[in-house]
Amino acid sequence: MLNLLFVESSLELVPRKIARHPSVTRNAQREGKNPEGVLLDRSLHHHAMLNLPEAEKRGRPDIIHFCLLEALGSPLNKSGKLKLLVHTLNSDLLEVSPELRLPRDCYRFRSLIEQLFAVKRVPPEGTPLITFSRKSLSDVKADVHPSRTVALTSHGRARKLNNLCMDLAAETNPLVLIGAYPNGPMREETLKEADEAVSIYPEALEAWVVTSRLIYEYEKATGLE
Ligand SMILES: C[S@@+](CC[C@H](N)C(=O)[O-])C[C@H]1O[C@@H](n2cnc3c(N)ncnc32)[C@H](O)[C@@H]1O
Repeated sequence: MLNLLFVESSLELVPRKIARHPSVTRNAQREGKNPEGVLLDRSLHHHAMLNLPEAEKRGRPDIIHFCLLEALGSPLNKSGKLKLLVHTLNSDLLEVSPELRLPRDCYRFRSLIEQLFAVKRVPPEGTPLITFSRKSLSDVKADVHPSRTVALTSHGRARKLNNLCMDLAAETNPLVLIGAYPNGPMREETLKEADEAVSIYPEALEAWVVTSRLIYEYEKATGLE
């Protein structure tokens, strides 16, 4: 089983202090939504976001959308050997069922996650496919109880991904951290949860590219592919 934890995920509701900004109210009105109940999205709220702390990392729900589509559709997930967790920049935790069929369309994805923030589970009734809670990263890691934790970052030690995955395949309960945000290094508090920080390519790659490559190499290393 591979535990894949997306860290510092760029996923949050519009912060209260910019909820009255014209770019937020205009878009919310157009969609018939309450401005404080919509996801922060740089493509819609760029001007309102300019003075937010860590603005360069925020307002990109499309990144975790793509990463989850890659992961949920993989043979590894279909064989029940992938556990997916999403931890956000604000320490919200989403636990994702392997059975989840995520909308491909980004508008429908945003609406689904807005519903999750409002009622803390999706769907609201019956077996949950995504649950929502507040948890520190160290508590999330303690719950996973990994045998080894690897952070993937372009600032890590250079390693071949196939060698790394051979090592992960030999572990009883490996945990890999991937940053689901657009720019910048991982926070020190994230890196300190890892036993090793690894770079798999000489430049920064998109998070969903790293996700699909990791899963494919892990499938090969475990004889699934
Ligand atoms: C767009 S990058 C963030 C940029 C940042 N410079 C970085 O790599 O830490 C999103 C995520 O993809 C992963 N990533 C990107 N490039 C990588 C690389 N060369 N090696 C390992 N992981 C990488 C990391 O988990 C990173 O947090």
